[in-house]
Formats: sequence, C-alpha cells, structure tokens
Amino acid sequence: MAEQILVTGGTGQLGRVVVERLRAEAAPVRALSRKRCASEGVEWTAGDLRTGRGIDVAVAGVSTVLHCATDYRHEVETVRMLVEAARWSGQAPHLVYVSIVGVDKIPLGYYRAKLAAEKLIAGSGLPHTILRATQFHALVRSLLAGAARLPVVPVPKFRFQPVDVRDVAARLIELAQGEPQGRAADFGGPEVRTTADLARALLAASGKPKRLVTVPVPGRIARGYAAGANLTPDHADGKVTFEQYLAEQGKPTALRYR
Ligand SMILES: NC(=O)c1ccc[n+]([C@@H]2O[C@H](COP(=O)([O-])OP(=O)(O)OC[C@H]3O[C@@H](n4cnc5c(N)ncnc54)[C@H](OP(=O)(O)O)[C@@H]3O)[C@@H](O)[C@H]2O)c1
Repeated sequence: MAEQILVTGGTGQLGRVVVERLRAEAAPVRALSRKRCASEGVEWTAGDLRTGRGIDVAVAGVSTVLHCATDYRHEVETVRMLVEAARWSGQAPHLVYVSIVGVDKIPLGYYRAKLAAEKLIAGSGLPHTILRATQFHALVRSLLAGAARLPVVPVPKFRFQPVDVRDVAARLIELAQGEPQGRAADFGGPEVRTTADLARALLAASGKPKRLVTVPVPGRIARGYAAGANLTPDHADGKVTFEQYLAEQGKPTALRYR
C-alpha cells in the first residue's frame, strides 16, 4: 500500500486542490484543518499549528507532509511547530513547503516570515523540498478588484505572473512523490503581464471597460515589485492563463464541512 501523505491547510485555496487531486489518484491522504471537516476518500484530522493541538496525531505515521497551511501572522511559529512534530514522530517525513517567488528580495513582513520559515526547514535535518510559486490568480484578481471599482482605475507599473492553483498543486504532488530536492526550481504562471494588462482583462471579463491611469508607488516593497523580483520568466510552467481563470469563476466547490 502507498504511504500516506499529510496535507496541511486542506481547506485552503491550494490545499483543497491538492487534497482533491490526491483523492482522485486514490493516494492515501490525510488532511489537516482547525475545523472538523469531512469528504469522501480523505482522512480529515483536526489540529492547530499555532497551539500544537492535534499536530502529533496529524503527523503520526505519514511519509510526507505537504504544507499548504499558512498563518499570515505566525508563519514562522506554525512552521516550527510542524517541524518539531515531524521530528518527534520518528518517521522523518519528507516536508514539502510552498513559498513565494521573491521572498528574499521584497521586504514585505509576510515574505520575511516565509524566508525565515524556508531557512528553518532547510536547517531542520528533515528531508525537504521548497517550492516558490508566483501569485495565484485569485490573489491578483482580488488586488485588482478594489481598484477596478473606481471610475478611473489606478494601476502601478508592476508586472505579475499569475499562476493557477491547479498547476501549482500538480507540481507539488509531483515533488511530494519524488526525492527531496531542497530548493526546487521556482514555479510561475504561463505569462508575465503588466498590471494594466491584467486590469484590462478583469474589466473585460466583467463587461465594464474603464480608463486606466498609471500611478507611482513609493517605497522599498514597491521597488521590489517594479524590479520584477516577484517574477520567474524562465519558469513559466503553469498552463492556465488569467483569462481562462476569470472565465471559470463561480463554479461550486466539492468540499463540505460538518
Ligand atoms: N496566495 C498566493 O498568491 C500564493 C502565492 C505563492 C505561494 N503561496 C503560498 O501557498 C500556501 C497556501 O496559500 P493559500 O492561499 O492556499 O492559503 P489560504 O487559502 O489562506 O489557506 C490557509 C490554510 O491554512 C490553514 N491554517 C491557517 N492557520 C492555521 C493553523 N494555525 N493551524 C492549522 N491550519 C491553519 C487554514 O485552515 P483552517 O482555517 O481550515 O484551519 C487554511 O486551510 C501558503 O504557504 C502561501 O504562502 C500563496
């Protein structure tokens, strides 16, 4: 029998797709959430990476941990909790961590925490793989959606390389089922696009074309984006474009809670 994979953050944007794909492959999958969840073909386990509740049970007996949970304000602490539990399990599972392209170059607080978490994992002694991905379509869409409500849409001179969570999920599963790689090659969406171009696509999808105006954004974080530190054009490996993603919005989800 194949060895069991634990997916943390099984209810999140990325984690729920990973769980669903593993289930569809009939791979033995355990999924972690702080809530009580149920779905066919998945062993759900309740636990909190912040307090440690249920984490020893979650990691017990698994060969791989695919860490899709994120606690935006406590990323390092929650990763440390997972690493400690994995070490104590005595199994030394392969730990797969999802990070973000540019965490080492853009001084956002969350990115600094992701970088510290990467270092913690790299120094943990556990077999591990770290995959940095570009911004997910949903994040880019929500960043633009607020601006798109204004009569004239302000757009910074940044570029994004939005990626579909299904493409990231497929790559993560491939990595989880392979040998630990340390830092894997980055993973980006199929196209590098200007913010203005993406805003036009969003406005076109909503049937409300508007005038755009380029706005300067000061500061070191903005400079990082303006320099393209969030991009990985050599790894434009995702398949689903932003337009394809926008066209699919509104589809129901298979996950149910109890
Ligand atoms: N969004 C992007 O554009 C993007 C781009 C590149 C990389 N990433 C990375 O991809 C990963 C997944 O992101 P996402 O957008 O899918 O996240 P998300 O939708 O915000 O989901 C976060 C998940 O973490 C779980 N969680 C939060 N706090 C927890 C805790 N204390 N204990 C246990 N579980 C906890 C939540 O589960 P419950 O609420 O059910 O407990 C939820 O399933 C993150 O590491 C993120 O940095 C994201």
